[in-house]
Amino acid sequence: MQTYRLALIGFGNVGQGFAQILRDYGTQYEKEFGANFVITAVSDMQKGSLYDPDGLKPAVLLDAIAKTGSLESVPAPFKGWDALKTINESNASVVAELSFTDLKTGEPAITHLKAALQSGKHVITTNKGPVALAYQELHHLADKRGVTIGVEGSVMSGTPSLRMGTELLSGAGVTCIQGIVNGTTNYILSQMDAGAAYADALAEAQAKGYAEADPTGDVEGFDAAGKVVILANLLMGANIRMTDVEREGITKLTVDDIQQAHARNERWKLIGRVEKTASGIKASVKPQCLPETHPLAQVGGATNAITFTTELLGDVTLIGPGAGRLPTGYALVEDLLALHRHLSD
Ligand code: HSE
Repeated sequence: MQTYRLALIGFGNVGQGFAQILRDYGTQYEKEFGANFVITAVSDMQKGSLYDPDGLKPAVLLDAIAKTGSLESVPAPFKGWDALKTINESNASVVAELSFTDLKTGEPAITHLKAALQSGKHVITTNKGPVALAYQELHHLADKRGVTIGVEGSVMSGTPSLRMGTELLSGAGVTCIQGIVNGTTNYILSQMDAGAAYADALAEAQAKGYAEADPTGDVEGFDAAGKVVILANLLMGANIRMTDVEREGITKLTVDDIQQAHARNERWKLIGRVEKTASGIKASVKPQCLPETHPLAQVGGATNAITFTTELLGDVTLIGPGAGRLPTGYALVEDLLALHRHLSD
């Protein structure tokens, strides 16, 4: 049995979803994979920080949050450590970076990830900011220290879009990747397709927790552009930045546009696209009107989908959740199991 001690930096929805998965599936992972994932430290600016070198029980952490909204009531030998002290001084060999992070700066996640890598710890993150803005630098640092960086959850949460591209389709000659990589806008467009006004559809998306705190990131296509940068750089060998993505959001589309398209058997979708062209990689996020027979046109609600166009297989489409507590928490399990396979080789 191989034990992995984990420090969680941030204990919001994703951290809690991950804890829930370890609570419910931890024994199965031990039996099936010989991997024991133990949370020894949690550091969250709002909910409190705990460190127990022998391990914190996921059920106890979750009960405390359910009852009090905080971790303060959980007994632990060490409390109140900030993120950097937790990263540097806890016994964790893997740091899960799950803090609330701004896509414009990638902070505080970039600082946390660099500190973890510099101290020789493996890192996993579902934050797209550091991956879109600083992946090369982080990857270089990881290589230098002989550790790994897992980022599956940064695009389409636990739906394995990155692993599909980097591993399974890497020899198939991928020429284009396009998809619905923002659930909020897909939910809004689906509701408008059913007759809702834009403002009502947005309010519903916010109430359901799909939208970012500031919905501009979703509706103006910044969130999708960040994911497109990740797809381009990690799957297509590009080295582009957010400003290289031609970007247009959904705010100019009217209910009339959407319903007229519907009458023509077409659907408006916000499509993120990366394409290999003779003049290099072309990346965009913009609304597109697709025939209803197109696989991406059939994806409704907050669901995400991605189509890989390949030379050897033609089109391969992956459809699944792109957000949510358990789907995003599960992305961390994917990265941990990949680390476990890597270290067991
Ligand atoms: N706001 C994002 C979305 C969350 O709607 O897809 C996942 O990155």
